[in-house]
Amino acid sequence: MTLSLAQMAVEVLTTADGRAKTELSRSYAKAWFAARAGQAEAIEIGSASPPMHPARPDKPELLSPRDVPRRRPGSEKGRIALLHAVAHIELNAVDLHWDIIARFSEVPMPMGFFDDWVKAADEESKHFNLMCGCLEELGSFYGALPAHAGMWRAAEDTAKDLMGRLAVVPMVLEARGLDVTPNMIEVFRKANIDHAVKALETIYVEEVGHVAYGSKWFHFLCGREDIDPKETFHALVRRYFHSTLKPPFNEEKRAEAGIPPDFYWPLTEAE
Ligand SMILES: [Fe+2]
Ligand SMILES: [Fe+2]
Repeated sequence: MTLSLAQMAVEVLTTADGRAKTELSRSYAKAWFAARAGQAEAIEIGSASPPMHPARPDKPELLSPRDVPRRRPGSEKGRIALLHAVAHIELNAVDLHWDIIARFSEVPMPMGFFDDWVKAADEESKHFNLMCGCLEELGSFYGALPAHAGMWRAAEDTAKDLMGRLAVVPMVLEARGLDVTPNMIEVFRKANIDHAVKALETIYVEEVGHVAYGSKWFHFLCGREDIDPKETFHALVRRYFHSTLKPPFNEEKRAEAGIPPDFYWPLTEAE
């Protein structure tokens, strides 16, 4: 029996091991796009009950952010810690993109919405594997260090609000990635670690797309409900994101992703 897209999402979410999760994610993405191109039997969106928390491997140990040891990026250990943190973010992102598909499958959306998040999930899967490869080249592996425990909070907080999910996950958290990645690339360029530079450059380019998908579908939903996107974005970020936004911003890449300055600057200050 062919699984629906929502069932595929739940299969990914309930797979614990990172390599197994991303392999499944990539094979479902391939099946989805083959079906969309008419090269295989159609896959319906369907519906499913995603778990409140995705399955995760036993390692890394998850610690509250203040207990995660601070990284000094100038050292070998610091660079490994940086790659480990990115691997953890990427694995979380795989689950976030499949979760948006399964969690909100009852909201009628154009097929392009599903295409975008399947593509994003596929790219995050590739990013996780790229980071694992970099860690292994430096003699480490994903799971060797403790990682941040709070990553799923945004998903829990916005589990019943698709616009809230789009505002906080792609348009705040993934947009933040655009702000910080250029400095990270510099750290590895200075250390002449070419494979990490290349991997992070791939991530940087593809993440612009994920933020753009967020902005596109957020604006679509605002238009469908005839509400003001900027006001709505501010209200949702203040409701679901428990902090102000931190400059400096990557204004160029944010613009490329469809997020203008008047969306984020007012959120640098508490209300
Ligand atoms: Fe990514
Ligand atoms: Fe992403």
